[in-house]
Amino acid sequence: MLYFGADYYPEHVSETRWETDARLMQAAGFNVVRLAEFAWSLLEPEPDVFDFSWLDRAIAILAAHGMQIVLGTPTATPPRWLFTEDMALVNEQGQTFMLGSRREYSPNSPEYRRLSVRVVQHMVDHYHNNSHIIGWQIDNEFGDRCYSPASRDAFEAWLKQRYKTLECLNERWGTRFWSQTFSDWSQVYTPTKNIHAIHHPGLLLDYDRFMSDSYRDFQQAQVDVIRERCPQHFITHNFMGFGYDKINYFDLAQTLDLVSWDNYPRGFWITTPEIDPTSLALSHATMYGLKQQSFWVMEQQSGHGAWNVIPPSARPGEIRLWVYQGIAHGASGIVFFRWQTAHYGAEQFWQGILDHDGVPQRRYTEVQQIGHELQRIGTQIAESEVKSETALLLSYESRFAFQIQPTNPDFSYPDHLASYYRALHRQNISVAVVSPESDFGTYKLLIVPSLFITEKETVAQLQAFAEGGGVLIITIRSGVKLVNNQVIDKPLPGLLQELCGVTIHDYDSLLSGQTRILQFQTPHLQGKASVWCDMLTLTHAEPLASYGEDYYVGQPAISLNKVGNGYVFYVGTCGNDELVKSLVDYAIELSHVSRGLATPQGVEAVVRWRGAEKLLFLLNHTSEV
Ligand code: GLA
Repeated sequence: MLYFGADYYPEHVSETRWETDARLMQAAGFNVVRLAEFAWSLLEPEPDVFDFSWLDRAIAILAAHGMQIVLGTPTATPPRWLFTEDMALVNEQGQTFMLGSRREYSPNSPEYRRLSVRVVQHMVDHYHNNSHIIGWQIDNEFGDRCYSPASRDAFEAWLKQRYKTLECLNERWGTRFWSQTFSDWSQVYTPTKNIHAIHHPGLLLDYDRFMSDSYRDFQQAQVDVIRERCPQHFITHNFMGFGYDKINYFDLAQTLDLVSWDNYPRGFWITTPEIDPTSLALSHATMYGLKQQSFWVMEQQSGHGAWNVIPPSARPGEIRLWVYQGIAHGASGIVFFRWQTAHYGAEQFWQGILDHDGVPQRRYTEVQQIGHELQRIGTQIAESEVKSETALLLSYESRFAFQIQPTNPDFSYPDHLASYYRALHRQNISVAVVSPESDFGTYKLLIVPSLFITEKETVAQLQAFAEGGGVLIITIRSGVKLVNNQVIDKPLPGLLQELCGVTIHDYDSLLSGQTRILQFQTPHLQGKASVWCDMLTLTHAEPLASYGEDYYVGQPAISLNKVGNGYVFYVGTCGNDELVKSLVDYAIELSHVSRGLATPQGVEAVVRWRGAEKLLFLLNHTSEV
């Protein structure tokens, strides 16, 4: 079954309106609503006084109109009476957040965690038997990093668990540098901005890991409570797509039943009227990839996304396009944010399906059209699945490490990944997003962009993948770092030397906008070098391209190594679109990945499989008909 509905805030409108809303939802073909994720002060108006009566009444009305319910746990917005300064998040500048917006808490405050678990426990006690509830969303869009005293203490405990002794920590980080050796655990600190230069990269990377784990653990405390009483309900969290980079999303997804995410193609002010469909597709693919299973869009933009300034409206037909793009890429639920535009509060201009006046207009009609279409074809879609022969490796550890040391101001790890995704997506080839720990066995082509932190287990997996006939593309700055963020003491690409059949004897970091000519030893490739130029010594790979200028003229830049039944490309530069496209084309040919349907520019073709039957989604992202 496909789920289709809206995020609904009955507490924001008069109770006399609920029946009308439920009726309009039903008429739009809705079957699900998400409720209550910011309603803590109404659910627990005074310490230990719980009031579920209003929510019960809303659920009863919605259920009478065929809605199933996803309940949000309200822990992103605590009541004022509950919140004390020791629970607050402290930012990188050392400022303590006050309550005024949302997610101002520290995930590491033991007291805040206790009170969060307590409210969830009460919700669970009240709703575990309610047959209209199908699932739970934990909190809302986890993120941020916290530098509070509670986080410092938790960081110390986290480090103790990881390193056992201070000697080990000092060794692994390399704290001799700048006399940073710790002699007592109490000296551990959180990396706020109040130092003269830059923090130790060993500490910074562990701090990022720790903060990512902090949200995972904060979430887990709630998951445990819900799972115990409500084993029949799914548990999810609303993620923020490929773009969000402060949490290891593979970890956060691990103990959830379902990934969901918030898709705002026209969120906030944008400087160009065009929306990039590829970046939306990459987010969908990433959300699918977190568990290699269908996901929900828990917040689908349903109008303009505005706080204090109002950006252009969602164009007619766009909402429908976004919905089907999500479904094509594996969504099994689409929930709009939000049902009606709020009359008050920080988001009073963030458009819902209905405007402030509550009168169904253009966006309602469009949503209703989708609802009716899904009533006809939803079951077929729900029975189908996404399949990919190609995969893209996303390493959050490397992403964190590049945030600390971007290497070149023009290098962006996510953009570099996206450039390869784009080259495949343009040809309508489905791409699975995988983690370094994934099983690569089922793919024919695996792209490994800039695996900065490389662990030997991953290398063994990549080796087996290539030997078994897979084709790998490995790019710049792979194999540079050990897990503790120290640089490896071997020629680069470090542990990947043997697999790539090259060593890097020198490299050059280019200035913004600079390129270097490439000369090709194969007709398959074209394009230019940019950002970064590795100079390769070929140990047992063959050259595909060498530099055509600068002091490294004639030196190899790109290579191909035959490994077992497969091939490994090493690409020593970022390159322009032309280069990436030609590399991907060559790799497609060697790996025998099936090409997608050829479509005009701006038209996306996505296939879902129902057994051997193909469900083809043709998505026109242009304004031309
Ligand atoms: C996020 C949140 C929602 C809402 C929207 C719009 O995605 O999850 O609660 O605030 O943004 O701003």
